[in-house]
Amino acid sequence: MSDNKYILVVNGPNLNLLGKRQPEIYGATSLEDINRELATQLPPDFALITKQSNCEGEIIDNIHEAGFDPDCAGIILNAGAYSHYSLAIADAIAAVNTPVVEVHLSNIYAREEYRHKSVIAPVCRGSISGFGPLSYSLALKAILEL
Ligand code: DQA
Repeated sequence: MSDNKYILVVNGPNLNLLGKRQPEIYGATSLEDINRELATQLPPDFALITKQSNCEGEIIDNIHEAGFDPDCAGIILNAGAYSHYSLAIADAIAAVNTPVVEVHLSNIYAREEYRHKSVIAPVCRGSISGFGPLSYSLALKAILEL
């Protein structure tokens, strides 16, 4: 296991509405509750830093900031709809040293065709899709075992 000190979780557009946004697709759990539960799954000497932004540039800034920080063990990223078309976020992920794990609550491959393609997937360390809040826990487990 890595001896780095924190994991960054970045959630993109509309994910601040989790719990009230299309619960039949995204579930009833709020982002705050997902983050709180995730923090309980950390090893003792790790911290969780969580960010949410509806703005592409802010997500990129978050990736840049943690992506060259040797204390950051990994980034868990749910880029929301940006996953499907943001070459700027894909470029940011490709630019940094820190491993980025892509997550989606819903199974993007079981949904509309325009969600089947993720432009960030090829530059992420791996992708997890379809397990609801568990997608984040699986990403955390993956980063801790890298
Ligand atoms: C999502 C899937 C995306 O297609 C969608 O635009 C989202 C959420 C997910 O977590 O399932 O905003 O990333």
